Amino acid sequence: MIQLAERFLSLRSEDLCILKAIEAGMRRREWVPLEEISAISGIPASKAEYYLRLLSGRKLVSYTKVPYEGYQIEFAAYDLLALHDLVRRGFVASLGDRLGVGKESVVYEALNDIPLVIKFHREGRTSFSRVRRVREYLRDRPKVPWIYAAGLAARTEFEVMERLYPYVAVPKPVARSRHAVVMERVPGVLLTKTDLDDPAFYLNRILAEIKKAYRLGVIHADLSEYNVIVGDDITIIDWPQAVGRDHENAEELLERDVSNILKYFKRRYKIDLNPGEILRTIKVDDGE
Ligand SMILES: Nc1ncnc2c1ncn2[C@@H]1O[C@H](COP(=O)(O)OP(=O)(O)O)[C@@H](O)[C@H]1O
Ligand SMILES: [Mg+2]
Repeated sequence: MIQLAERFLSLRSEDLCILKAIEAGMRRREWVPLEEISAISGIPASKAEYYLRLLSGRKLVSYTKVPYEGYQIEFAAYDLLALHDLVRRGFVASLGDRLGVGKESVVYEALNDIPLVIKFHREGRTSFSRVRRVREYLRDRPKVPWIYAAGLAARTEFEVMERLYPYVAVPKPVARSRHAVVMERVPGVLLTKTDLDDPAFYLNRILAEIKKAYRLGVIHADLSEYNVIVGDDITIIDWPQAVGRDHENAEELLERDVSNILKYFKRRYKIDLNPGEILRTIKVDDGE
């Protein structure tokens, strides 16, 4: 497994130039022909072809002959373009280990003046349902599904976190580039990976944060014990699926979020709360 940092360090300026040219070309078509890459990058075709061969050997670009000869960048290259942009803009100073591969993301530790993570979205490679759901959004969407699915997921996640932070316990959002979101690294462990001394306290904290987000008009919509980090306090992560309170399925999604959390605490800690009552307290505007 070639790591991101290694790949990043071995990038030459010509590589970047070519990758950016393919990325730009992919806004208009699925596969970008050599002549177009050459025209956009200003690198003569024969030279560009040489770099493209090397890039494809490193699994950064893919090549096809049908329906016409052309190139695409791979997710790994998209990661590099985002990382390069984040470093250039001063948001990321150093890159650490991979923290994990989630359902729909790859997360790395990073550092600037505070500990960070970079979350590279992977939507679109695995699930096309979200792609279908967001299709209406972008009139001018890129022609390659995963580029816009992953980019849109990152944009939603970043915007939602900016709206919630610091009122709701979410990681501090720092920056976004393409499909990559940079945020504060939260100390602690996943809720699933710890035995709580005082589960009732943490459950109440989670429910209180759900309520605060709801009052700001936001429903997480993918909440479960896997998206809560526990340290001294709790932090709710993984917001790309969040919807507004005016969403057609808002009620259902809120109910599912709450029920996932209640079920987990019931199963693991034998705390048995009434979901209907909890939902009512979340929805009632009592000025808290
Ligand atoms: N801000 C963060 N601080 C610390 N760890 C994080 C942070 N964000 C994500 N992680 C780690 O990365 C994993 C995947 O992130 P998550 O946002 O849940 O994406 P996925 O959609 O892949 O589940 C989490 O389970 C957690 O271990
Ligand atoms: Mg998650």
